[in-house]
Amino acid sequence: MNKPNKCILGIESSCDDTCVAIVSEPNHILSNIVISQDQEHKPFSGVVPEIAARSHMQNLKNALTSALDESGKSLSDISAIAATTGPGLIGGVIVGAMFGRSIASVLGKPFISINHLEGHLLTIKLTHNINYPYLLLLASGGHCQFINAQGLGKYSILGQTIDDSVGESFDKVAKMLKLGFPGGPKIEQLAKSGDPLKFNLPKPLINSNDCNMSFSGLKTAVNLLIQKLDITDVNIINDVSASFQYTIASVLTSKMRYAIKLYEQYSNNKLVVVSGGVAANQYLINILKEEADKLGYSLISPPIKLCTDNAAMIAYAGLERLNESMIDRVFCPKARWSLEEL
Ligand code: KG4
Ligand code: ZN
Repeated sequence: MNKPNKCILGIESSCDDTCVAIVSEPNHILSNIVISQDQEHKPFSGVVPEIAARSHMQNLKNALTSALDESGKSLSDISAIAATTGPGLIGGVIVGAMFGRSIASVLGKPFISINHLEGHLLTIKLTHNINYPYLLLLASGGHCQFINAQGLGKYSILGQTIDDSVGESFDKVAKMLKLGFPGGPKIEQLAKSGDPLKFNLPKPLINSNDCNMSFSGLKTAVNLLIQKLDITDVNIINDVSASFQYTIASVLTSKMRYAIKLYEQYSNNKLVVVSGGVAANQYLINILKEEADKLGYSLISPPIKLCTDNAAMIAYAGLERLNESMIDRVFCPKARWSLEEL
């Protein structure tokens, strides 16, 4: 008799979305529930860690019930439980990890501790049939890194931001323009009606001979600029959004060129993957894709819903680790946890 496909329950609670998903072998997303906390954090124009942790406690049970209902599975069908155990806001990480650990204990099933960044790194394998190695640009609210992904758990960082992440810059500029939270999608939308060349903004580290990045000077420049402008004028907001987004695109394009040079020393698989919340930005993806094409590379990114935080990516990372018997790590929630430590 054929063995039934493994079914993994995934839990993600490292930031402001409470997520539970069920993924079955080899890559079927049976359910992918995201309970957004945007409305709770909106008055503060950013994520408040205590509110996030409390909200995860309130939402996890409902998210689990919905994930099971939608998938048509019951807890007895679950082969293992995978939860984010870092990096992230430690209160939320502990809540989600303990929730998952308790379910695993009660069911007598394996608990798989997952690094959130590895979730973003592997998401593309849920939707595209690709093999290692690949060059990854991971751009989210907390990270901006170029990574050489050589195999499961074998990752090296080729370069990264030395201060703010790209997502954080989008959020901070949106806050300055009083656009609300999260900022990325709003800026992308408004930029469509703006002139990307209207304001000339700095591109920090653009000439450094590496793929490290810096975005905090850009954010300060936008702040200084808008003090001289009338930001109640919608055309001005559109132009600032477009110019800022254009500048980010120029920096990322130039740094991707350098990252490719480094990556080529290790691999001839001409594939770039962009993932993390910022990969939801289709303007950035299209510009990066054009540049990758010129260099003879394919550039792919997950569908928008799988770019931002979700538990399907955590469940999938759990499945890959379960299949490779790479689940015997000591479980310890961490606020910081580099991909190079896996
Ligand atoms: O991966 P993610 O959901 O959470 C973290 O792991 O941090 O990324 C969230 C970040 C936020 O900073 C958000 O503004 C940004 O991704 N983001 C975007 C877009 N959608 C989300 N940034 C630019 N354009 C977007 N369309
Ligand atoms: Zn994330």
